Amino acid sequence: MEHLGRESPNDLATIKRILVVGAGAMGSQIALVCARAGYEVLCHDVAESSLERARKDLRSRSARDVAKGRRDAGQEAAVFRRLVFGTDLDALARDVDLVIEAAVENLDLKRRIFAQLEEVAPKHAIFATNSSSFVPSKLADATSRPDLFCNIHFFNPALVMKCVEIVAGPETSAETVELAKAFVVRIGKEPVVLKKEIPGFIANRILNAVRDEAVFLYENGVASVDSIDAACRTALGYPMGPFELMDLTGIDIGYFTKKARFAETNDPKDAPSRSVTELVERGDLGRKTGRGWYEYA
Ligand code: CAA
Repeated sequence: MEHLGRESPNDLATIKRILVVGAGAMGSQIALVCARAGYEVLCHDVAESSLERARKDLRSRSARDVAKGRRDAGQEAAVFRRLVFGTDLDALARDVDLVIEAAVENLDLKRRIFAQLEEVAPKHAIFATNSSSFVPSKLADATSRPDLFCNIHFFNPALVMKCVEIVAGPETSAETVELAKAFVVRIGKEPVVLKKEIPGFIANRILNAVRDEAVFLYENGVASVDSIDAACRTALGYPMGPFELMDLTGIDIGYFTKKARFAETNDPKDAPSRSVTELVERGDLGRKTGRGWYEYA
């Protein structure tokens, strides 16, 4: 497939302006990571209230980094001048070189977003999704540039976690993967490239196996939530236990990912567990609601 405007497809210099779609916890931090690396970043969300929340959150994280001497105040002011927020996707997408979509994990929604972007974004723009559940072949055909489509998958909190998984679909070009890899290095992260697509990729699949075992032990009355977390921290060297981590990332996120997987496979081991379902039904979603497996002041 030929693409206008990208003469040297793996030249990192062709990426200047980035659009991040979705200003939730992941999208907003990805946007800040990119702006700190010197890129002009446009951050989109459908709701002005989400943009306001993202702006506030990033400003306070930035102020904290300045107060702790990790970032320079002048440097951060320049970063925020490079970071623009908006609700008009068509206008924001008009002149970008890379899109990173970080909307909620809903296949139809993501496909609609990419179909819309296909209409308005420049022909040379790379389309990436931060999705952890949907592999490129589930999304790339919503566009007419499957060769320029891949997953660039960050971890939570994106400002801190180094790993970024890069997943190519059957039609992703080798140049796109190389460019994605170079880009990830350029923003100060460590790329891990998969050889083929599989839902959940590497780290989440391993994490999910650990989480499922932790929930099994808890539901079978073998040990308390704190004891299981403590074992993972002190025996395995994890920075936080699986229950603490679910509270950090949002219990609903894992729940909906499992539900979507179960709808596809019908395999009982993919179904959300009883205790997680109860928490979600009660609205106890972790740190963001003040209560999950633990209580937060
Ligand atoms: N957002 C941004 N920065 C954060 C943060 C957050 N939510 N939480 C912590 N940080 C940063 C802060 O800069 C903080 O430093 P200060 O307190 O000095 O400002 C620094 O991290 C250290 O934080 P803490 O001292 O509070 O705690 P910590 O040393 O335990 O580090 C942690 C926090 C980095 C989150 C660490 O506990 C950790 O690595 N936990 C595991 C996280 C993990 O496994 N993530 C993967 C999740 S799975 C996923 O992401 C799947 C997916 O598909 C999205």
